Formats: sequence, structure tokens, C-alpha cells
Amino acid sequence: MVTEQIRSSVLITSVLNPNMRVFDVVMRTEYGTSYNSYVVVGSRGIALIDAAHATFCEDYLNKLERALEGRTPDYLVMNHTEPDHSGTVATLLERYPNLTVVISKAGAIYLKNIVNRDDVRMMIVTDGDKLDLGDQTLRFISAPFLHWPDTMFTWLPEKGVVFTCDFLGAHYCEPQLFDHRIIYRDAYSDAVKNYFDCIFAPFKPFVLKGLEKLAALDADYACTSHGPILTRTCELERIKAHYHTWATEEPRAYKRIPLFYCSAYGNTEQLATHVARGLLRAQPAAEVTCYDLVKHDLARLAAILNESDAFFIGSPTINRDALPVVWNLIASIDAVTIPRRPVALFGSYGWSGEALPHLAERLSSLKAKVFETQLKVCFTPTPADLKAAEELGEAFGSSLD
Ligand SMILES: Cc1cc2nc3c(=O)[nH]c(=O)nc-3n(C[C@H](O)[C@H](O)[C@H](O)COP(=O)(O)O)c2cc1C
Ligand SMILES: [Fe+2]
Ligand SMILES: [Fe+2]
Repeated sequence: MVTEQIRSSVLITSVLNPNMRVFDVVMRTEYGTSYNSYVVVGSRGIALIDAAHATFCEDYLNKLERALEGRTPDYLVMNHTEPDHSGTVATLLERYPNLTVVISKAGAIYLKNIVNRDDVRMMIVTDGDKLDLGDQTLRFISAPFLHWPDTMFTWLPEKGVVFTCDFLGAHYCEPQLFDHRIIYRDAYSDAVKNYFDCIFAPFKPFVLKGLEKLAALDADYACTSHGPILTRTCELERIKAHYHTWATEEPRAYKRIPLFYCSAYGNTEQLATHVARGLLRAQPAAEVTCYDLVKHDLARLAAILNESDAFFIGSPTINRDALPVVWNLIASIDAVTIPRRPVALFGSYGWSGEALPHLAERLSSLKAKVFETQLKVCFTPTPADLKAAEELGEAFGSSLD
């Protein structure tokens, strides 16, 4: 069943996508997903909350029509404009030309460029604003960076239902829509953690603020835009507690300074070993580990980099550049948390040596703090080069206190 009643006057129209295995090009999703949207029927107006992915437009519209039973919606509340929820909005606006889109200020700017229309009827709302639907009221709660700047929650106090869009959600698909009907609970828990890690981990301070706002509501239901609806008596409190734990940064007694490198002929690898030795002289308590990029899983290395206090990258120059494995790691850097993170570079080259300047430029554009000394060694390192590698490690380590 994909159109159900949550509480009287609140309907869910969920589009199921059980086959999705990759989300947003980069996120692995083993369990598919659903795009949940909702209908709130008030005595003086009907509001839709969130929409669906464009690929499933026909399915979404059919389910919506079934839920509406011939009624016409007055409002579309967009908690977040990412295309997995806004891809069907252009079609919705054609079908319901009097629809008013209720949206945050940032969301309004994005939506104009998503539907490429200037004439969308919009009601821009800020934190605490209300929409009166007669016997139901929607209250809007600003929740920026959960996970886009535009995000807000919508609260329906008469029913104890909060619509949180992606927050507390999961890319997870079972035909039943409520948490107490989940069959594969371990798989669901895995999907919740994966969703947090991929979508919310870069925004931990905002997650804690979002949880505070939810705590003040004390909702019975959290209607997310992906995965099952969460109920107070089943998963809601558990997932909020998990989010709190995952978003709370434990102060660490020691620094983590990984070295990532690759090496075709062992030259850059030798440098890595000596850089690490010098680094440990300056930071004896630090966790210093060398990772050969071709020997480890990229996602694991990316997580280690993103959790580091500082890091090194070593790459030879091949075809006038750093190697693709190095670029893949850099492409996995979390752009939200990388600013001001110290990084230093080393590598062997043969004749032109472009790898390090290219890496420095890219890391600077991510706003990482690139150490001014870079160690570029021509072909095989000499004893003096190895000493310079130790000195680089030591100087970088000393700069971190
Ligand atoms: C296929 C290939 C292409 C290379 N292209 C360049 C290059 O464009 N510029 C350069 O300075 N060195 C180039 N080199 C030389 C390497 O950078 C040099 O051999 C270096 O010492 C390799 O370090 P490694 O042992 O850490 O891999 C190339 C080497 C190979 C095998
Ligand atoms: Fe999103
Ligand atoms: Fe989403």
C-alpha cells in the first residue's frame, strides 16, 4: 500500500524506488529508497508537503490524485528543494496552476532555477511562521544545512506530526510505510547510519540544533522524505538518540595525521616512510599511519581523511599530473569541514613535476591550509632527500600545535 492515512487528515503518498543503488552519483545505497510526500487536509485548505523525483512523476501524480479524491491542493510546502523532492514540481504547477509554494527564502531562489520560471506563486516563510488551514495549522521551523541551506521542518501541532524531509530519513525501501512494520531491522539500521554518514556527518553542529528544535515539539510522528515514517513508540526516539551520539564530537586526546600516497616505483613511498618518521618526532603522541592508496578501499580512506586533524598527500608525477587514485581521494573530501585543515605534500618526479602544484592548487581551492614547504624529489631519493623528508614531517608536525 503506498497511499495511507497517518492520522486523520494527514496522508502519505510514497513513491517506491527499490532498485536504486547509487544516490546523487556518489552515495552507495544497498536498499533502494522511497520518496515520501504528504497531504494535509484542513477545513480551509489543502497542503502538499514535499514532492518526488522526476523519474517517478507519473507514479507520484497517480498516487497524489488517489489521495486527493478529486480535491484541489492549495499549497505545496517545500521543506527542501533538492531535485529528489522537487523534480515533479514543474508538472505539479502545470496541473494545479493556483498552487502556492510555501518555501524558505533560500529555497525560493533555488526553486526558480530548478523549474526555470519567474511566475511561481510563492509564500516565503521564516522560522515560526504559520499557515492556517482552518482546523489544522502548519508551523515552519528553520533548519538550515540539514542538509542544504534552504531546509526547514514543518510542524502540525494538532496531530503531533513533524515533517522533517531528509532529516532522520534513510534510503531504505520496504512496501510498508511505518517503522513498526519494518521486516529487515538490521538492514534498516544500516541504512540509517549510512544516510547519516553520507548526508549529515558534515553538518554535525546543525544536526544538534535540529534535534533541539525537534525536542521542543515532542512529536508523535516524524514524517521523513525517505524511508519509513517514524513513530514515538517505535524508532523515532532511538534514531534521534543515535543522531545525537553521531553528531557529538568527542574531544580526542591525540591528533590523527594520516599520510596518503601512491608510488609506481617506490620513490614516493620511501619519502612517505621518512616523512612519517620526522612527523612522529614532532608529534610523538599522534596517530600517524601511512596508507598506500591502491591497497585500501577509497571510501574507508576518505572517512579517515575527513576525520583527521591534518594529513599528508604524496604523489609522483605521471603524465604531467598527480595520479587518478589521488584525485579520487581528493574528490571524496568533505568540502564543508576541510577549510583550514593543514595538509602537506611530497612526491617524486622525473622531469616536469606538476603533481604537487596541481594538488596544492586544488586543496587551496577547497580552503585547506596547504603547508608552504613541499618536497619534490627528482627520481630516486638521495640520503639528503630522505633527510629533507624527515625535516618536512618534523616541520609540519611542529606547525600543528
Ligand atoms: C608513465 C609515466 C609517466 C610519467 N610522466 C611524468 C611526467 O609527466 N612528468 C614528470 O616529471 N615525471 C613523469 N614520470 C616520472 C615519474 O614521476 C618518476 O619515475 C617518479 O620517480 C616516480 O615516482 P614513484 O616511484 O613514487 O612512482 C612518469 C613516469 C611514468 C612511469
Ligand atoms: Fe536532500
Ligand atoms: Fe532527499
